[in-house]
Amino acid sequence: MAKVDTLQSLFVQELRDLLDAEKQLVRTLPRMARMATSPTLSSALREHLEETRGHVSRLEQALESLGLRASSKKCVGMQGLIEDGEETIDEAEDGPVRDAALIGAAQRTEHYEMAGYGTARTFATLLGHAGIASVLETTLNEEKAADAKLTTIAEAMVNPEAAAEPPAGDDRSGFAARTAEWLGSTAGAAVGQIGRMAGRLAGAGQKMGSSGAVRRPAARKTTATGSSARTRTAAKRSSGPVRRAAAKTAPRARKTSRSR
Ligand SMILES: [Fe+2]
Repeated sequence: MAKVDTLQSLFVQELRDLLDAEKQLVRTLPRMARMATSPTLSSALREHLEETRGHVSRLEQALESLGLRASSKKCVGMQGLIEDGEETIDEAEDGPVRDAALIGAAQRTEHYEMAGYGTARTFATLLGHAGIASVLETTLNEEKAADAKLTTIAEAMVNPEAAAEPPAGDDRSGFAARTAEWLGSTAGAAVGQIGRMAGRLAGAGQKMGSSGAVRRPAARKTTATGSSARTRTAAKRSSGPVRRAAAKTAPRARKTSRSR
């Protein structure tokens, strides 16, 4: 390995390091875009993939303009960031939480590149390579813009959605919610049934006089149908707050129903 003993040789090494970093991203960004759930995020990652291909070309041209071979030097830093990001992404639950992980991983690589391009641009200026400094500045601005776009996507949609995501074991949006919905509709139907029944009983009372002897057997008959207990329970749950409470006690309600 050649000794890096001048700013010029350090500058060339920086360019080759950046070239390898960009090539690693060209291989990685397509997978990240595929794993994104948000179409906006996926589109942003694909757009940056196209920019990244351009960054590779610019670095190759910069090296060639210095009369050098456009070879790269293994960028261990970018390799580590990508491996670290992939581990986090693979562990993340599919959906907004994974999108948040994708943005976090992508922004780490952007910031790493921004540091590298800032350094290389400054070296180029000091060494009198104005043309290369200008090209590096253009790439640096594109990295900053990509990072800013990811921040906007994170803050405007992905992070709030990820924050609202229940834990995988929490089935609030599944069985319990459906059971609560069922209890609510059943309670509504039961209230209507009770109303009609009360109407019939009142009518019978008017025909036969106001004797309680007529109404009491009718009430016992209703109780004996076996469905009245369920009807009473459902009727009690017909109001809003009770319906919400039903969601909390849904498993017990289901058990009770099965026991019949
Ligand atoms: Fe880049």
